[in-house]
Amino acid sequence: MARTVYIETFGCQMNELDSQLVCGQLRALGYAFSDHPELADVVLYNTCSVREHAEQKVWSRLGELKFRKAREPHLVVGVLGCMAERDGEDLIRRMPVVDLLCGPGELDKLPALLDNAVRTRSSLLADEPTEAGPGDNSERFDEYAAVRSLRSARQVALQGNSSRRSATLAAAQDTLELLDLSRAVSPDDHAGSAYVRVTRGCNKFCTYCVVPFTRGAEVHRPPDHIVDECKRLADAGVLEITLLGQTVNHYRFEHGSAATVNGIVQPQKGRSYHGGHRRDPFRGELTTTFADLLARIHDEVPAVQRLRFVTSYPRDFGDDVLEVIRDHPRICRFLHVPAQSGSNRILQAMNRGYTVEEYLEFIDRARAYLHQPEIGRPLTIAGDIIVGFPSETDDDFEATKVLLRTARYKNCFIFKYSPRPGTPAYDKLDDDVPESVKRARNSDLLALQNEISEEVGGEYVGQRLDVFVQGLSQRERKKAARQPAASGACAVDSAPGIVGLTIGGGAIGASAQHSFSAITSAIAVESEPGDSAEGGGETVQLSARTEGDLIVLFDVPAVQSESLIGHIVPVRIESTRPLALMGELDQAHAPAAI
Ligand code: 5AD
Ligand code: SF4
Repeated sequence: MARTVYIETFGCQMNELDSQLVCGQLRALGYAFSDHPELADVVLYNTCSVREHAEQKVWSRLGELKFRKAREPHLVVGVLGCMAERDGEDLIRRMPVVDLLCGPGELDKLPALLDNAVRTRSSLLADEPTEAGPGDNSERFDEYAAVRSLRSARQVALQGNSSRRSATLAAAQDTLELLDLSRAVSPDDHAGSAYVRVTRGCNKFCTYCVVPFTRGAEVHRPPDHIVDECKRLADAGVLEITLLGQTVNHYRFEHGSAATVNGIVQPQKGRSYHGGHRRDPFRGELTTTFADLLARIHDEVPAVQRLRFVTSYPRDFGDDVLEVIRDHPRICRFLHVPAQSGSNRILQAMNRGYTVEEYLEFIDRARAYLHQPEIGRPLTIAGDIIVGFPSETDDDFEATKVLLRTARYKNCFIFKYSPRPGTPAYDKLDDDVPESVKRARNSDLLALQNEISEEVGGEYVGQRLDVFVQGLSQRERKKAARQPAASGACAVDSAPGIVGLTIGGGAIGASAQHSFSAITSAIAVESEPGDSAEGGGETVQLSARTEGDLIVLFDVPAVQSESLIGHIVPVRIESTRPLALMGELDQAHAPAAI
């Protein structure tokens, strides 16, 4: 019997991509998808552990499912991703509603786990005695209890502390790579925009961060695999690709030491290299550096109009990468390069490996290479900041404000420090900044960033910009969500960094702190809806991105919207809000309604 899956994703772009890959895999095996959890008999949550808040959402979803599962015992509930990895079997003890756990490093095993979980539940229910006839069933009940305890073993695949990805990978096949390699690519899956993973895991061990523990050690994918995936996406109509990695600019693949298993080149363990260089010291014929990889994708996949990458680690960002961006017109002049704090003392406590001065030196260097507004190619930069890290004083916080003013981000994600069990900061540092102070610093910094964002956005007013249309704005999506969905889908319905994707309907990434959904939503709700276009007819508000990843909102006749989504169109910028530019479509140069 075909099973119907609902999958909801929390967290970062990497999680969104994971869900998309899982979804493609399950669809190929005959699973159907629903937009509504209540219509699905398999409910999967792809979770995030980076901050406690994200985990709380999952706990509350699981709590709700408890009641449903009592009514519908065949329901299969799975927790995927970082929370599964971090909480492990404690999660099942706390939430017996969960049938299946699968860490982010084990997602290739999900189909088998799911199949087992579905069978286990079905056979358990089939074995359950339906009638308790007098005198004849005590034996059966005993038998049933034995079956139940035997079979109620949950389906679990976790990396544990010894990451299988961190081994040399030479001996065993990295089956997670097969998940990326088997990616189902069809024009229906992408509204013109897609993520491609280049590295997995992280070796940095910032003291506050769970990622090295949940995703394991850094592993780099073979460049041919990445380029082929980009080509397949381009063939399916993708115009915009965002390369993903926790420290994406550290990508490097050394061909001389590449291992092959069953004819497939294996991903390679990341090697650390030390700061101070301006060029990847390993660059040469036998090495594909990050600069080489960008240039290769640019040159070998010309149909991709926009190539981006997130997230960059500020240290060791070589001039070679900046030169490649400068010299290759379809590589976006946009960097997401988190500083985390403007205080050297706090940066050291965070184990970030650079000083404020070094960070700002990099920002200056990047601008010197890439900020060319006079030829219509400005550089935009986005940041991340954590406020209220243990021992952060008012002076530390003031230093962060200075950094924000100097860096002039186009936007910055600001997080309150969230102590994460298992991290060095959790174990060794007191979470001593009161919640009220964290909250005040958070809103103070947001207000400052809003001012800066509005100033940065103001520089575009009056200009005509080419924007990539991602889809309906959040305002329109909310309207649409109030109407019944026609069918379950497994598709990206917006592009990287915005609303996330809908797989099987759950607003995957709805809680993504790294997505701009909340921002877009705030703006879209705030902006006045144009109910009718000049000359009559309904209008809808579309959301688009500039090359520099600025959000642009504009109204178009509803009949025209479909012809614009997934395309790059010219828009004249009319005004600016702190978090988005408001524009008007240049109709003379836009595709007409289909
Ligand atoms: N508390 C608050 N923010 C965190 N981040 C990572 N770990 C934590 C934590 N424990 C933030 C960092 C990172 C982003 C993905 O999430 O700013 O860049
Ligand atoms: Fe976490 Fe630091 Fe790695 Fe980013 S670089 S994923 S913050 S450990």
